[in-house]
Amino acid sequence: MISAKNELEGAALMRDFSEATRNLMRSSRTRLACLCALPFLLLTPLYPQPAPQAHTSTGAAASAQRPSRTRTLRVPAAPGPEQAVNRPFKTYETRPVVLDGPFILDVSDTTATLEWVTDTPCIAKVQYGEKDLDKERVPQENGLVSVGTLHRVELTGLRPGHTYQYKILSTRVVRLKAYWPDMGLTSESPAYAFSTLDPAKSSASFSVITDTHEDVARINALMKMIDWKTTDFLVFDGDAVNGVQSEEQVFDNFLEPVSEGLAHTKSLLYVRGNHDMRGPFARSLGQYVTTPDFNKFYFSRDDGPLHIMVIDTTEDKPDSTNVYAHLLATAPYRQDEFTWFKHHAETNGRIQTAPFRVVLLHQPYWGWVDGRNREWTDVANRAGVDLAIAGHWHRFHYFEPGAGGNDFPVLVLGQDQVARVDASETGIRVTVTQIGGKVVGTFEVKRREK
Ligand SMILES: [Fe+2]
Repeated sequence: MISAKNELEGAALMRDFSEATRNLMRSSRTRLACLCALPFLLLTPLYPQPAPQAHTSTGAAASAQRPSRTRTLRVPAAPGPEQAVNRPFKTYETRPVVLDGPFILDVSDTTATLEWVTDTPCIAKVQYGEKDLDKERVPQENGLVSVGTLHRVELTGLRPGHTYQYKILSTRVVRLKAYWPDMGLTSESPAYAFSTLDPAKSSASFSVITDTHEDVARINALMKMIDWKTTDFLVFDGDAVNGVQSEEQVFDNFLEPVSEGLAHTKSLLYVRGNHDMRGPFARSLGQYVTTPDFNKFYFSRDDGPLHIMVIDTTEDKPDSTNVYAHLLATAPYRQDEFTWFKHHAETNGRIQTAPFRVVLLHQPYWGWVDGRNREWTDVANRAGVDLAIAGHWHRFHYFEPGAGGNDFPVLVLGQDQVARVDASETGIRVTVTQIGGKVVGTFEVKRREK
């Protein structure tokens, strides 16, 4: 930073320097020397610098040849001595409220994402560990600690099949400034626990619901039907909402009631439905329900004898349909997804070694893929898929292997039903139960001979 005095002296020197330079440059013999000296001459008026401070300059200290004038220079606040930058920042007696969560999203064998919402902008932290809360994770982006009301903290490097305790902490940021932002107090949750998936274990169980379409009473009833102690995670198979309108709607009509069942301990594995692609907030939905592969709605997970592939069947009509007004581009997206599916089917190690391969998708026959449905089925057949579970039709249906070119059974789950999937190393048993307790279907999938 240059003080006013130095700036004025610098200007004078620069004028003198410019005149001298012009004279020197007239001589070709001195041009090279002049150019070599240029950086040093330019730097000379800058050093040494006085301690930076805001002040008024009268110009009297400047050269007498310059006209006398008065001006005020505004010099930005500077840190000064080291202890000045470390003086305490202001902390207000205000504590944030956790409005929603924490939710556990898409636990894998080594990762988990914790998500929650606060009423005011906060910085977030998760303390976690197996026996003690001896580790912590603070989300940051490009070196800046994340500040906001939606908090997503990804835990990585976890051990398969282990149980982790965790707490979420939210510290209010009252006013975000360049230096000494005003802060508030920290809210701390109770300690909860979750378990990572374990591909090495001999059994796995999960539960599936679908098409709840913002019916909170329906979700509440479904949550009560699930035996949470023995289910590893919950699959939601699409159409959480009728159209995505807002964060408040997503939480109030889907995530919060589902969380009543998950109880901060079980993970939600979300499959996108066609209705979840519509509405003014649809482009933001990924921030709330997807994995750390931000906005990726197709991926795989391993749990016990199961290799699970989540497929995003997107919309049910062509992109060119007028109702979408050219705001849809699922064709290239589905092509990318198909390329991933095919590559995954051909190269993923668990495709070969897992006792069972399960596809989770919203629309039973891959959604609108421009007539290429059979190509998707062929990839699934070549991958040795053993079971597909879909929703979308709002009523129960069961397709035997071979019904549509598929070598595997397809369960279409109704919207008032829970599918319970229990897998061992020799077979998968699926039980579909209606709200009220009536079992509407059961079937078994035997392990194939290789
Ligand atoms: Fe649907």
